Amino acid sequence: AIKVSPKAKGAKIDDTMYGVFFEDINRAADGGLYAELVQNRSFEYSTADNRTYTPLTSWAVDGTAQVVNDDGRLNARNRNYLSLGAGSAVTNAGYNTGVRVEKGKTYDFSVWARAESRTTLTVTLKDAGGTLAEARKVAVKGGWAKYKARFTATRTSSNGRLAVASSGAAALDEVSLFPRDTYKGHKNGLRKDLAQKIAALKPGFVRFPGGCLVNTGSMQDYSESSNWERKRSFQWKDTVGPVEQRATNANFWGYNQSYGLGYYEYFQFSEDIGAMPLPVVPALVTGCGQDKATDDDALLKRHIQDTLDLIEFANGPVTSKWGKVRAKMGHPKSFHLTTLEVGNEENLPNEFFARFQQFRTAIAAKYPKIKVISNSGPDDAGSTFDTAWKLNRDAKVDMVDEHYYNSPQWFLQNNDRYDSYDRNGPKVFLGEYASWGNAFKNALAEAAFMTGLERNADVVKLASYAPLLANEDYVQWSPDMIWFNNHASWGSANYAMQKLFMTNVGDRVVPSTATGTPSLTGPISGAVGLSTWATTAAYDDVKVTAEDGTTLFSDDFSGDASQWKHTGGGSWSVQDGQYVQTDVAAENTMVSAGDPAWHDYTLKAKATKKSGK
Ligand code: AHR
Repeated sequence: AIKVSPKAKGAKIDDTMYGVFFEDINRAADGGLYAELVQNRSFEYSTADNRTYTPLTSWAVDGTAQVVNDDGRLNARNRNYLSLGAGSAVTNAGYNTGVRVEKGKTYDFSVWARAESRTTLTVTLKDAGGTLAEARKVAVKGGWAKYKARFTATRTSSNGRLAVASSGAAALDEVSLFPRDTYKGHKNGLRKDLAQKIAALKPGFVRFPGGCLVNTGSMQDYSESSNWERKRSFQWKDTVGPVEQRATNANFWGYNQSYGLGYYEYFQFSEDIGAMPLPVVPALVTGCGQDKATDDDALLKRHIQDTLDLIEFANGPVTSKWGKVRAKMGHPKSFHLTTLEVGNEENLPNEFFARFQQFRTAIAAKYPKIKVISNSGPDDAGSTFDTAWKLNRDAKVDMVDEHYYNSPQWFLQNNDRYDSYDRNGPKVFLGEYASWGNAFKNALAEAAFMTGLERNADVVKLASYAPLLANEDYVQWSPDMIWFNNHASWGSANYAMQKLFMTNVGDRVVPSTATGTPSLTGPISGAVGLSTWATTAAYDDVKVTAEDGTTLFSDDFSGDASQWKHTGGGSWSVQDGQYVQTDVAAENTMVSAGDPAWHDYTLKAKATKKSGK
């Protein structure tokens, strides 16, 4: 039973309460929100990104072509280029099933090229059924220069290929094909259907760029030519300026990231959808399964200065150093940055907090109006969490980020989580949460939980479901809010539920009380899918348990095999009158001993026998 007290005054709910968390996971950026159609456009893919990559991944060669890394390169940050022989051609396969084009729409092709003698590039768009647009010819002569051509698609296809054939010897780099029809029509812009789905949520804020890809690798240096490092964390200065001067990087989630979608584009998107930009910068303490804090004071100071520079990039006048960079990129006006977060899920609370305080002090000294959000560690409970919260509370930090991923049952049982939070302590930013699944029952459990967030809107100030996006063919983490491939996108049940809350944010809570115990137990039948992720550097043991606590699969990664492919079996008994026997098999696992990268680790539990009610 529910009792409502319409006359009593509940907590005020801020317009910014519900937002989105964008991290480049599951190919959310390249092959996703970033509208570029060419994969590996600058020939920078490397085994450092993913052991299956070569600099020619996604390219097919007809004739002679090789990727070269020498002094003839385009610039110091774009290391590789393609040396294409006379009479040869290369063809790009795009993402998923190919390059997607739509009949009647226009596409901008561009390439950086050089050729000693006058050479003609013939650029074609085709699929197995023939041409998709009239071919274009581009005359190339002399040193590196950018050449352009425009296509109008004569047919719709999701299986397209972009081919560049050269009459003479030529060097190519940054081969690009962009739909003209991007979200809000920006150059170097965003894929419209995905941006629209996010915009339709009317997010109060956009938290970006991570997640684990912010802090892991933060002790690696920038991508200067002399100390070019991959696997460094997402650091904002790597991601601004002309795209051909942005060095690509190994993404924490096991692929290459072009940084075409960088900090300028994140700010622009936040502005376009009327959301508060909320960047996360690394605190120089790793999280996400690793325990390391920097002792390099100069490096720490450099990151603190980078954070001050970021504020100047977002808000500074065009006469300032970084404000000028923003203006040159097309946005002389301020992006109105008010809030930023330092760190993400650090495992070492004391080490994190000592460094966080240095960021906080430096930011307060120069930009006293900027709000700085702190962290509570990787788990929503336990000694790390308690220590982090105590440090934050004692230092009167403005706001603390909490993350949790758990069962629907947990979300139902924890509806009252914030009822007892200290009203005078730091506010809560629920930066990442989701129940384990994209089924209706998950959305329902999350909805029930969100009523608890709203009831406590005086304490919980910001909340974002995570992760936001997943390309169905490149999944590292599931469940996700919005799914897509190269031609379609669809919201999950969780998306529909988030939209319901996010587009109907109230002004004030009307207090109510409910009696009765909600429960999600019930018959289980058919196949169930489970997913987790693993890295031997981070985890010694991997264990997957069913909602009733039964161990479905476990592995201690012992032994010295350089490659793992697991299969296992187990039985799963469910307590509520059902008995389900399962076969459990792990698939898609290629984890080397000592490999620091995360790998998708999918477990499929299949019901083979069922009895009971
Ligand atoms: O949302 C996926 C990951 O979950 C984030 O990168 C990290 O912060 C958390 O562990």
